[in-house]
Amino acid sequence: MFEFINSLNMASRFRWRTYKAIVLMVLVAVLMVSVFQRGLVSSGGDIQIERNARMQRETINYWKAKPDNSAETTVAPVYERDIVRTWDITSTNCSINKNVTSTEGFKTLGQNFQQFLLYRHCRYFPMIMNHPEKCSGEVHLLLVIKSIISQHDRREVIRQTWGKEQVIDGKKIKLLFLLGTSTNEVEKANHQKLLEYEDYIYGDILQWDFMDTFFNLTLKETHFLKWFSIYCGNVQYIFKGDDDVFVGVTNILEYLESSKNTKDLFAGDVLFKARPIRKKENKYYIPPTLYNKTQYPPYAGGGGFLMDGPLARRLYVTSETLELFPIDDVFLGMCLEVLKVTPIRHNAFKTFGLLKDKKSKLNNEPCFFKSMIVVHKLLPPKLLEMWRLVHSNLVCTVNHGLMWEVAKDQQQQL
Ligand SMILES: *[C@@H]1O[C@H](CO)[C@@H](O)[C@H](O)[C@H]1NC(C)=O
Ligand SMILES: *[C@@H]1O[C@H](CO)[C@@H](O)[C@H](O)[C@H]1NC(C)=O
Ligand SMILES: *[C@@H]1O[C@H](CO)[C@@H](O)[C@H](O)[C@H]1NC(C)=O
Ligand SMILES: *[C@@H]1O[C@H](CO)[C@@H](O)[C@H](O)[C@H]1NC(C)=O
Repeated sequence: MFEFINSLNMASRFRWRTYKAIVLMVLVAVLMVSVFQRGLVSSGGDIQIERNARMQRETINYWKAKPDNSAETTVAPVYERDIVRTWDITSTNCSINKNVTSTEGFKTLGQNFQQFLLYRHCRYFPMIMNHPEKCSGEVHLLLVIKSIISQHDRREVIRQTWGKEQVIDGKKIKLLFLLGTSTNEVEKANHQKLLEYEDYIYGDILQWDFMDTFFNLTLKETHFLKWFSIYCGNVQYIFKGDDDVFVGVTNILEYLESSKNTKDLFAGDVLFKARPIRKKENKYYIPPTLYNKTQYPPYAGGGGFLMDGPLARRLYVTSETLELFPIDDVFLGMCLEVLKVTPIRHNAFKTFGLLKDKKSKLNNEPCFFKSMIVVHKLLPPKLLEMWRLVHSNLVCTVNHGLMWEVAKDQQQQL
């Protein structure tokens, strides 16, 4: 009897090992294939870049910046300070803050909020992967994408499409992904090695030693701001976004060109007077014990926004004066409020699900995508398809002004 069970166990363990081995092999194979593809692409790379640049210059530029009224916003006296020149956090020394357990209402909070409060005081963690060289030279635009270890396919398709590092009209564009560590031990052991291999090939991953959870996204924000302040003195602009968005990089460049006299540029899909969500089932639920005002300060949807380098450095300094807030884009809004910088709302940023309406014609309208700066949300196959359409010999005869109206109408219906 005993032996029977034992052999059963052995058999299932063997099966499990075989399964694990196969999964690993498949992942490695996927990586190899993509490396190979990349090799093919880069051999014709220059022609491709030139071709892209030429096509993209033709893009209609009706979405250019509106007249600049940012001069009205006055600048708060926060000065850049001397900052260390390397990442100075080398050990994780963070124990839970027992004090918070006795605060009012703590016990009534959900587990994720309790966890958040217990570790809220832990501000910085060591780096596992760093790329101090990323910002060397004059970088015009740094594309910075939040990702998690298991979303390898999303990173891959971004590198192949809009995230390609290139020079357009003399403007250097660089790409970075921001990651934490896995929350799952098995994944941690297996995938970490693959991630290191991926980084060995592409050299575009920053990883910190904190758990990649939803409530730790604010840590990702503050870690990036600190990192940027240390290593990126010569970067003019940052696009920061999710790994499931469609981005029109040439549209960004044109927008930036038309906004080059704007001081403290921070542009995106900005919400003014958004109210904290008090429904417990909602992903963005915030209990009054954590935030008791009726409105958030203006903030840009985290799916994709633009900011200038000097502002990012001031945001870093400001972020250190505030307590962490679990929703990362709202937290940035709080920092902007302290700096008295009003984020700019622009129609070409669609981060709050215009395309939630699955039946919307715009979902499949390449001319719509061609006119956008960022559209949320597109998974790899769809992103690739749309990218190819937009960069084919696409002729957009539709009246774009009209299209805006359509877009607005649809948004109102949602
Ligand atoms: C970690 O923090 C504790 C208390 O804050 C301190 O006693 C200890 O020396 C620290 N350890 C390290 C490695 O910094
Ligand atoms: C907890 O409270 C004590 C006493 O008020 C304080 O000294 C300590 O710094 C607090 N700990 C944290 C992590 O905030
Ligand atoms: C954030 O990451 C830290 C470090 O890994 C972890 O201790 C903490 O529990 C995480 N917080 C949340 C809310 O997930
Ligand atoms: C809101 O919270 C702040 C501190 O978190 C507190 O000082 C203030 O009294 C609270 N306001 C209300 C209306 O509860």
